[in-house]
Amino acid sequence: MNPADLHVFADEQVLDRAVSGRLETIIRDGVASGRDVNLVLSGGRTPAGVYRALAEIFRRKETGLDRVRFFFGDERCVPPDHEASNYRLAVSTLLNSVPVSMDRIHRIHGELGAVEGARDYESTLKELLRAREEPWFDIVLLGVGSDGHTASIFPVQSTRTEYLLRRVVPVTDAPPPVLERITLTPRALNSARFVFFLVKGPEKSAVLRQLVSGRDRGPHFPASLIRPTEGRLEIFADKSAASGLEF
Ligand code: 6PG
Repeated sequence: MNPADLHVFADEQVLDRAVSGRLETIIRDGVASGRDVNLVLSGGRTPAGVYRALAEIFRRKETGLDRVRFFFGDERCVPPDHEASNYRLAVSTLLNSVPVSMDRIHRIHGELGAVEGARDYESTLKELLRAREEPWFDIVLLGVGSDGHTASIFPVQSTRTEYLLRRVVPVTDAPPPVLERITLTPRALNSARFVFFLVKGPEKSAVLRQLVSGRDRGPHFPASLIRPTEGRLEIFADKSAASGLEF
């Protein structure tokens, strides 16, 4: 990985402000060029601080929020108000506190179940991105699990052919506690101008080392499958996650 694409911050608050500032710039540039800005939100807990910092920016400044379309990288097969829902986290930290209209928020309907929900989201993406040349997304935000999974692309399942052919797939054998999920595939996640990995905490230092070294590549380390086709991959880490890196 090009060292210029790894950004390490003193703590997570500084990281959150830096990432939200980058998102603001990318959104402004996209709006200035006269198009919608497609932002894919990550699940998990890591992005919560970024979402709060971004909400602050949207509340304070005219950033072209009305041109942003919100998508999700993955979802658990639970109702949207369930505590495990990625949508619920995004609503509570960002979407509920900014003037965005519901028709610009494209949540994954996890309550339909993995197979039906994946089919439903696939057709949503087809409809909304039909007129858009690749890359479909301006920004994809991703976390990474300590096993190297990202979105809901897990080491075992990511070898399946459908992950190569489709944009959205069902996951019916994810690790507990939420076994059923729906996820965008590397094919979809790589169709982005920018992919930002957000990595915080000492428990992520080993997986960050693997991610940065690039030594672990392939389906057994799904985060390594994320290589934007035409875009740029950047990693934003706090010091505690980056403690094991040699500079
Ligand atoms: C999910 C996420 C998943 C997450 C990682 C890291 O739905 O769980 O999409 O890929 O980003 O598991 O999770 P934390 O940010 O909570 O450590």
